[in-house]
Amino acid sequence: MTRRPDRKPLHLNAFLMSVGHHEAAWRLPESPASGGTDIAHYQNLARIAERGRLDSLFLADSPVLMGDPGRRPANKLEPTVLLTALAAVTEHIGLIATASTSYNEPYNLARRFASVDHVSGGRAGWNIVTTAGADAARNFGLDDTPLHRDRYLRAAEFVDVATKLWDSWADDAVIADKESGVHARADRVRRFEHRGRYFRVDGPLNVQRSPQGYPLLVQAGSSEDGKDFAARYAEAVFTAQQTLEEAVAFSKDVKQRAVGFGRDPEGIKILPGIVPVIGDTEEQARALDDELDRLIRPEYAVRQLSKTLRVDPATLELDRELPADIPGEDEIEGAKSRFTLIVELARRERLTVRQLIGRLGGGRGHRTFAGTAEQVADTIEHWYDAGAADGFNIMPAVLPSGLELFVDRVVPILQERGLFRTEYTGRTLREHYGLPRPANRLFDTVDAAAGHLGIALTEVS
Ligand SMILES: Cc1cc2nc3c(=O)[nH]c(=O)nc-3n(C[C@H](O)[C@H](O)[C@H](O)COP(=O)(O)O)c2cc1C
Repeated sequence: MTRRPDRKPLHLNAFLMSVGHHEAAWRLPESPASGGTDIAHYQNLARIAERGRLDSLFLADSPVLMGDPGRRPANKLEPTVLLTALAAVTEHIGLIATASTSYNEPYNLARRFASVDHVSGGRAGWNIVTTAGADAARNFGLDDTPLHRDRYLRAAEFVDVATKLWDSWADDAVIADKESGVHARADRVRRFEHRGRYFRVDGPLNVQRSPQGYPLLVQAGSSEDGKDFAARYAEAVFTAQQTLEEAVAFSKDVKQRAVGFGRDPEGIKILPGIVPVIGDTEEQARALDDELDRLIRPEYAVRQLSKTLRVDPATLELDRELPADIPGEDEIEGAKSRFTLIVELARRERLTVRQLIGRLGGGRGHRTFAGTAEQVADTIEHWYDAGAADGFNIMPAVLPSGLELFVDRVVPILQERGLFRTEYTGRTLREHYGLPRPANRLFDTVDAAAGHLGIALTEVS
């Protein structure tokens, strides 16, 4: 492929999932037995990703024991706590953690992310999720998942309140004037008295505005409501796309919706996932992929698939295609877009349940690509040039080796092609993604100056 210096820079995020995204990765000799809670393991991964000059690393999360602990490592550290330990051993790389808007309150979470942004010197990002699944609901006094629509309505109000909290301190509030004895100017710290459908919050936050203003806002749902939410709030979007055509359509769709909300389409970065399985030769890469698939325990995988598809496991026969009577997406209150992706993948390629389990084993619906470093770089470049992505969510099947191979073999090819940075030029996570620092809605904007925010602003004495 040719070097074209005119191209926009590509963005790369390392999605770190304990010992790797493949569900059988933990069975390989290299995997630490306690990968999910091993801080040295995560710190090693963060340093490797930073060595590759990646924009960011990302930790997924759900407030529930996900899946079957018999099947794969399911215990894990709380991700914002983990990020602070990663911030301490890195200097540049962005640090993104997932937190649920359904099972948190805005004040606690806004405080936690503002703290991570301070601790890391402006490298924090929040992957905003609404948390699908009744298991999680039952940890919070509910019998079932709140309805999909309601979850997204709550998420929108949640983000609105969180940004007000982050904006409740003007950037110049703290003056620490020892002479006059004024630490922070009272007129630059405000209550805002939010009264909404889901939340009543007065503010202000007890943490001053952070280096980035507030964390980078990331989103990962791809249903209609999910795309609207992303278009309105997200600065980066993680997404699972199996084909180039679908990815191009998704990116266009989300960016057009963003324009509909009065936003610059360049202000929202689309990052589809890829599970790269890298070998010296294509055959070697495929052999590793096959070896991993052979280590999957089908009885566990079928149970998981039946849960995702909301069908009786007895109807899933390993050597037959999916049964005809799978519910429609409109009947799903959990993760709608992932459900549709899996059903369409199985139907399009006429996969048996066994084959489908193999395809999902690597990345739970994300695209797995087995090949040489050159071939991985080619597919990244191809999707990027076709307008399917502003960058990629790199999801190594096995950690740490998959990340090391990506950083040491694929990144240099992307750099050589002029597609990826050779040094960090920015300091904050937003600077890595080429995104502007957000204005303070309570203090900096014309509307705020005129008092037209539609919320009561009260000075704090
Ligand atoms: C790369 C990626 C990472 C995700 N990480 C999480 C996560 O950590 N926690 C979570 O609850 N959901 C996570 N999701 C799921 C989404 O938040 C969402 O529930 C799912 O895509 C379905 O959304 P939808 O109902 O809008 O289609 C992730 C999705 C993607 C594509």
